[in-house]
Amino acid sequence: MPRAKITRGDCEALDRSDRLSAFRDRFALPENLIYLDGNSLGAMPKAAPARIAEVVEQEWGNGLVRSWNIHGWAGLQQRIGEKIGRLIGARPGETLVADSTSVNLFKMLSVALQVRPDRRIILSESSNFPTDLYIAEGMAHLLGKHHQLRALASDAIEGAIDEHVAVVMLTHVNYRTGRMWDMARITERAHAHGAIMLWDLAHSAGAVKLALHEADVDLAVGCGYKYLNGGPGAPAFLFIAERLHALVSPALSGWFGHADPFAFEPGYRPAPGIARAAVGTPPIISLAALEVGVDLMLEASQDEMRRKSVALSSLFIDLADQLLGAFGFTLVSPREAAQRGSQVCLSHPSAWPTMQALIAHGVIGDFRAPDILRFGFTPLYLRYVDVWDAVMMLSAIMESREWTHAKYQVKAAVT
Ligand SMILES: Cc1ncc(COP(=O)(O)O)c(C=O)c1O
Repeated sequence: MPRAKITRGDCEALDRSDRLSAFRDRFALPENLIYLDGNSLGAMPKAAPARIAEVVEQEWGNGLVRSWNIHGWAGLQQRIGEKIGRLIGARPGETLVADSTSVNLFKMLSVALQVRPDRRIILSESSNFPTDLYIAEGMAHLLGKHHQLRALASDAIEGAIDEHVAVVMLTHVNYRTGRMWDMARITERAHAHGAIMLWDLAHSAGAVKLALHEADVDLAVGCGYKYLNGGPGAPAFLFIAERLHALVSPALSGWFGHADPFAFEPGYRPAPGIARAAVGTPPIISLAALEVGVDLMLEASQDEMRRKSVALSSLFIDLADQLLGAFGFTLVSPREAAQRGSQVCLSHPSAWPTMQALIAHGVIGDFRAPDILRFGFTPLYLRYVDVWDAVMMLSAIMESREWTHAKYQVKAAVT
């Protein structure tokens, strides 16, 4: 039996019964804009400017250097780390905010290779986000000719985990396809062969339900500026399972990870626990902005967020089936919701100009080379009618062939 057509009225009804709908008003979203790119840069929480102003004017302006103590700047990385730890299913003391995701990847790879000194292979997928592969390449190069990054097709990964692999490094939700690995199963497989498991949670933290401790994960990293809504260039986070803490002698052994930074000892002594993964002076203003985003996310039920994220992305897929069939799009993301993160990707030979035309009409997604239109679904600030309106706009652009205009063909530096 053919499925009943979805109407805008159906979407409005879903919005009326949405238990997360009140969160939308907590974000500063421009009028007449549908933002489907929170997987690249999250929207700004309305509370962020006031908090940033407070940090700048009071804590920096008045408190000056005293604020390291009186305003708790010294413990900010740990404090926000603890909060992110709750979002990712870590135990207390296993998560720290620090540096960028790329730098944290380097740090976590160095931990893995220290813990498995007799093994030389970093195993990853060739479709991983490039920075993950670049960092692993750099690490292997630094360590000399015996270490090696082995980057394979996704379907070859499981079979390639053997007793030569030191660390399996995967991105939980693929940036280009939205496909999600089964974290517990792959981690178990890595452990069965004695390998360390390192997950990149850039497209997972704040987007899908995570249970790092339950899955027995060893190491993880993730972004602050995507689903955590921490602001452009927000500091990243890292996770080290407690059982590894004592084994970690940081490769980037900076004074912020020292047991007693203000003793100014000439030799490095790692701080106890996760604190040793800190490196240098953290960006306080950026940390303050990130904390606002994380606090907001902690107010929402993770189960409800995942439920709505799946409902939004499934609605997008259903509407694409219903309205875009004639225009040559291919669904790149899994149809099966359990295998999908919080994004949907469509490929199209004219993906770039199509996305530019869509953005010009107030629907912001992004383009990933060579031919992918990527749409992120952020359950805290998106409505079901936004999904409807976005797909209708895409359909109208294809129908009118507006994307063929010369102005949409011009490439930009950031896509
Ligand atoms: C999977 C993944 N890892 C890492 C990054 C970025 O790392 P960084 O914040 O160091 O630029 C991204 C950025 O989109 C990403 O998608």
